[in-house]
Amino acid sequence: MPKDADAKTNPAHVAIIMDGNGRWAQKRGRPRLFGHHAGARRVREIVKACPDLGVKYLTIFAFSTENWKRTQTEVAGLMSLFRKYLEREAQELFESGVCVRFIGDRIRLDDKLVTLMDDLELRTAGNDLVHLTVALNYGGRDEVTRAAKRLAYEIEQGRLTHDDVDAETLSKFLDTHVLPDPDLVIRTSGEARISNFLLWQSAYAEYEFIDTLWPDFTADEFAKVLASFGGRERRFGAVLT
Ligand code: FPP
Repeated sequence: MPKDADAKTNPAHVAIIMDGNGRWAQKRGRPRLFGHHAGARRVREIVKACPDLGVKYLTIFAFSTENWKRTQTEVAGLMSLFRKYLEREAQELFESGVCVRFIGDRIRLDDKLVTLMDDLELRTAGNDLVHLTVALNYGGRDEVTRAAKRLAYEIEQGRLTHDDVDAETLSKFLDTHVLPDPDLVIRTSGEARISNFLLWQSAYAEYEFIDTLWPDFTADEFAKVLASFGGRERRFGAVLT
């Protein structure tokens, strides 16, 4: 790990849009799924790097509510990759102190995958070294809509009134309710878009758009991005005196 990564100034919560797997594979004349498999290996490396880099919370965008529009072959291949990844990595994640959570709507995911997700959450719930959140069938608008629906239900049931509706109350109904807001959102592959990721939570986050394709994004590059964040001044809308 490079010495320029200073754990004291590094962001505590980093969220990553892991983009570029498809192009990485295409550049090698291979199917897109080949790139997703290479991407999964990077996930492993980046998670492992977090404790040394002072990253307590890592949130990664694995599958969006829009990704269902991809070909059936790619969607099925990704779902199979997620299942295999959870089966293969569960023990190591548990033993290395990682607390795993999933955000997103589970309703469209297959039962086998949901069972693996539930089991891993339960098994790692007592861990506190790194909090890894995987966004699966996740969309920011979908999350806020689901939260609003639950809030409306609470009002309908008489447990809340419309006067209780404020940002803090709504936050409690989001999938991320136990997590701090991200300090830094990184997107790989040169695209400068948010793509419906953590819309509510990223109100004051810094953004880094990196040209590297996700399967080439090493722990060393991660450390360098974090080190550059350390030098920034964050004002959260206020004027510093
Ligand atoms: C975006 O690249 C990537 C995805 C939609 C999938 C992300 C999944 C992984 C990194 C695999 C493993 C993840 C876990 C949690 C095991 P893209 O396909 O849109 O790339 P492109 O823009 O070059 O086409």
